[in-house]
Order: sequence, then C-alpha cells, then structure tokens
Amino acid sequence: MALERTLSIVKPDGVTRNLIGEVVRRLERAGLKVVGSRMIRLSKGDAEGFYAVHRERPFFNDLVRYMTSGPVVVQVLEGENAVAKNREVMGATDPKKAAPGTIRADLAESIEANTVHGSDSVDNAKVEIDYFFKAADICPRS
Ligand code: CMP
Repeated sequence: MALERTLSIVKPDGVTRNLIGEVVRRLERAGLKVVGSRMIRLSKGDAEGFYAVHRERPFFNDLVRYMTSGPVVVQVLEGENAVAKNREVMGATDPKKAAPGTIRADLAESIEANTVHGSDSVDNAKVEIDYFFKAADICPRS
C-alpha cells in the first residue's frame, strides 16, 4: 500500500446544497485525511486551465460555466491508496451509473452537477494539487 495524496473538489451544487460536511464525513470515514482545504470561486481562466484536458469535448464550455457558477471547496486528501479510495467513495462520473452508497449515487444531481471531483491518477493528482495549493498550505498528518 502506498501513502498518496489526491485532489478533491466539492463542486458548486455540493456547496449550494450545504453538503460540504456530508462529503467530508464520507471521505474521512473511508480513512482519508484532509491535509489542505480552502473555499474559492473559480475564474473562467482557472476552470479552463484545470479542465484543459477536456477542451475538445462537447461539454467543455458548459463545464466551465458550471464550475464558475458558485464557490467550490478544494481539498488535498492524504491516505493509503488515496486516489483510488477517493474515487471509490465518489462513485462513477454519471450518478445514474454510480454504485449505491457512493457520494454521486446518493447526492449528485446530474453528470454535470455531480457534487465532487477527484483526481484520476497519482500523476494527475500531483498536477491538480499544485494547481490550487502551495506546499506551505498543506499540513502532512501521517
Ligand atoms: P469531473 O470528474 O470533474 O471531470 C470532468 C467533468 O466533466 C466531469 O466530472 C463531469 O462533471 C463533467 N461532464 C459533463 N458532461 C460530461 C459527459 N458527457 N461526460 C463526462 N463528463 C462530463
């Protein structure tokens, strides 16, 4: 098992519906530790840069519009196999396809307003964490 870090975002629908605590409760219960956290309102440039890999996808403009529609909570999670564990707790991108008991199956509104984002690999987690956090804003707990 490997100690990893991953980036989690509580998206605008999660913040608007007061689900920050519910999301964090589920992540903590799975053994993940919050080692960095802040609430921000993404600019158009922030969202475009963060989701640059999806630039050619038909949903890109809607995704950027949605992610800038309200505040989000960006968090760094730490734990054994944190990347996979976070994705397991989140469930599939499309809430209709997410396993029962996952955050997206239980809480998400749609494939766009799907409550949470989580890095999909250790390499991408490093890039995504660096996108939002300075090293000094992360407090290791292990
Ligand atoms: P996320 O894990 O944040 O990564 C990209 C996001 O694009 C994804 O979650 C979805 O919220 C959003 N998205 C919107 N439409 C689609 C789609 N058709 N397929 C995949 N992702 C989509």
